Formats: sequence, C-alpha cells, structure tokens
Amino acid sequence: MAKRALVTGVSGQDGSYLAELLLDEGYEVYGFVRRLSLENYDRIEHILDKITLVEGDLLDEYSIMDAVSSVNPDEIYNLAAQSFVPTSFAQPMLTAHYDGLGPLRWLEAIRRLKPDTRFYQASTSEMFGKVREVPQRETTPFYPRSPYGVAKVYAYFITVNYRESYGLHASNGILFNHESPRRGLMFVSRKITDGVARIKHGLDTELRLGNLEAKRDWGFAGDSAKAMWLMLQQDEPDDYVIAMGHEHSVREFCEIAFSRVGLDYNDYVVVDPAFYRPAEVERLLGDPTKAREKLGWEDKVSFEDMVAMMVDADMERYRKAARNA
Ligand code: NAP
Ligand code: GDD
Repeated sequence: MAKRALVTGVSGQDGSYLAELLLDEGYEVYGFVRRLSLENYDRIEHILDKITLVEGDLLDEYSIMDAVSSVNPDEIYNLAAQSFVPTSFAQPMLTAHYDGLGPLRWLEAIRRLKPDTRFYQASTSEMFGKVREVPQRETTPFYPRSPYGVAKVYAYFITVNYRESYGLHASNGILFNHESPRRGLMFVSRKITDGVARIKHGLDTELRLGNLEAKRDWGFAGDSAKAMWLMLQQDEPDDYVIAMGHEHSVREFCEIAFSRVGLDYNDYVVVDPAFYRPAEVERLLGDPTKAREKLGWEDKVSFEDMVAMMVDADMERYRKAARNA
C-alpha cells in the first residue's frame, strides 16, 4: 500500500519540491493549506490533480488534529511557517505563534492521535545567528538574532523533547539557505535575479539592497527536499545540518547574477539602509558531514548553476510577459 505523507507549507517553495519528490516516490500526498482570499497555488499548479489539499492553519489546533485523523499519515513534514526574517521583527508575536507553537500543535496531535507518525521539523541555520563556531554543525550552540530565529529554536527543542519524552520519530533538518526559481520575491536571491531580469528588460534602472557583505551557504531547494525525505526514512530519528559547505556574500551573488546577462552589478546596485536589519546574521557556513555520511545525502546543483538557473528563469518570465503583452 502506498505510504501517506502530509506536507504543511505545500504551497511554498520547499513544499512544492517535496510534494514532487514524494509523488515520484509513490506516496499519496496531502497538502495542508490555509484559506486565503485568493488561492496561491502557482508553485503546485502542475501537480494539483495528483495531491489532496486539506484546509487548516498553524494557529488552529482543531484543524491540525482533524488533518491528522482524516489523513492518517505515515509521515508529516512541517514546512509551514512565517519564513521571512524582517517580517519577524515587524510581527514577532505572530511569528512565535506560527513558527514556535505551530510545530508543538503538530507534535501534540501526533502524540495523542497517531504516535507512529514520523515527523520532520523545518529547522534553520538562522538558529546559529551570531555564530559560535565556523563551520556550524549539529553540536554548535544556538544564538538566534531575530524573533524568527528564536521561535525556530523553541520548535527545534520541542521536537527533540517530544522525541525524548514520548519516543516519537521526530527529526530536525537544520537547513541552510536554499533557493530556486520558486523562491519568494522578497528573499535576497530572488530579489536579485528578478531585479537583473527587470533591468535587462528595461523595466527598472537600479536594484536597492541592504547589507552586501552578509554571507550565506546557499544551496538548491530541490536538493534540500531530498534531505528531508531521507531523514524520515532512517530507522532512528535524529537532527541533521543540510548545507553546501561553501559561503558566498550577497555582493558575490550580485556579481554572478548580473554577469549572467552581460551586466556589471556596480552600475545598478544601490545600497539602501532601509533593508538593514535590527540585528544581522553576518555569516553562515554549514558542515554537512553527518548528513553525507549517515543519510548518503549529496547536493547536485552548485551555487553558480543555481544562480544561473534563477536568472534564466526570471529572464524567460519577463520575455514571455513581453511577448504576451
Ligand atoms: P515559504 O516559501 O515562505 O513557504 C511557507 C509556507 O508556509 C507557505 O506554503 C505558506 O502558505 C505556509 N504557511 C504560512 N503560515 C501558515 C499558517 N498559519 N498556516 C498554514 N500554512 C502557513 O518558505 P520555504 O522557503 O518553502 O521554507 C519552508 C520551511 O523551511 C519554513 O518553515 C522555513 O522557515 C524553513 N526554512 C527555509 C529555508 C530556506 O532557505 N528556504 C532554510 C531553513 C529553513 P501560504 O502560501 O498560504 O502563504
Ligand atoms: N531579503 C533581503 N533583501 N535580504 C537582503 C537584502 C535585501 O534587499 N540586502 C541584503 N540582504 C541580506 C540580509 O540582510 C541577509 O543577511 C541575507 O541577505 C539573506 O537574506 P534573505 O534572503 O532574506 O534570507 P535569510 O538568510 O534572512 O533567511 C532565509 O534563510 C534562512 C536559513 O538561514 C529564509 O529562507 C529563512 O526562512 C531561513 O530560515
């Protein structure tokens, strides 16, 4: 019989890649979605006829319990979250409820209703924040620098706690930044590649960014989805860093993205303090040794190829729009 997976955040970047992967692996896939005034299923449009959507919200434990009892899942991947760091400074309470207590609601529902369900929690390198060691690994102490990071630390430890207290098969993927053409437009990677395409098409003359010196360990979202799935296929639950093991600055990202279309970023990028954060995470660099050795996980798309893929996709989008106009 096909295994059943329930994916929260299925309409998001990671959820869409994970749902594709699970379908390829022969799962019955259920997506947990909240009601919006306008549906936003762009990222999963191509698989909507193959998955089943279940309505609910991270704030609503009854909808979460209903989802667990009606789907009866073998695996739950909790990807839903308020995932944008600057918004967490503007809406810290909401972020705590979604990102901190949301995972607890899933764990409680599993514990009460179906304790053999395997659980994946979307933890993050933002928990390392003001980093205590370089590179960061599973044993590196956390020092979050945003309400988002703090909420995610709670979620991380409540996942560990339910594993240790109740024997749940609950794992944390500590994922470093991962991007794709499906990335939200407010994140720096997509803001840059979209900006490059807009400038190249004559729709903009500049791109306003914040801290160009921040460094991230950027990977490809499709590769990250594979890691999530692998974690739940292990006999024992555990926590894993998923990263490329290379760091690049925002400036470097700009350089590669602009040069992909024959432009020099120095001519277009304007530093705007409006995009600085109250507290910054200056650099993140992960050590994925444990995931490589225990899960057999490996990244398939290099940083440079991923930037090129994103620029090309945004260029094509504007080309198409121009053709249709
Ligand atoms: P994303 O594109 O922002 O997607 C977030 C998803 O969560 C969306 O489907 C969104 O639904 C859903 N959601 C938000 N609030 C909800 C609520 N109250 N109830 C139900 N669903 C809700 O994020 P992502 O990049 O795919 O990231 C997935 C997860 O991994 C997040 O937990 C993020 O914090 C974590 N993470 C991401 C990265 C990264 O680099 N991408 C790295 C480490 C960890 P709507 O479509 O309705 O908004
Ligand atoms: N968004 C944004 N916009 N970031 C900018 C800008 C800008 O105009 N200019 C510079 N940056 C810098 C930010 O200050 C930050 O240091 C870096 O670019 C990356 O910012 P984001 O792309 O917004 O991602 P993030 O690292 O804050 O958070 C993402 O990765 C986390 C994993 O480390 C999100 O996906 C989180 O959900 C995820 O947990």
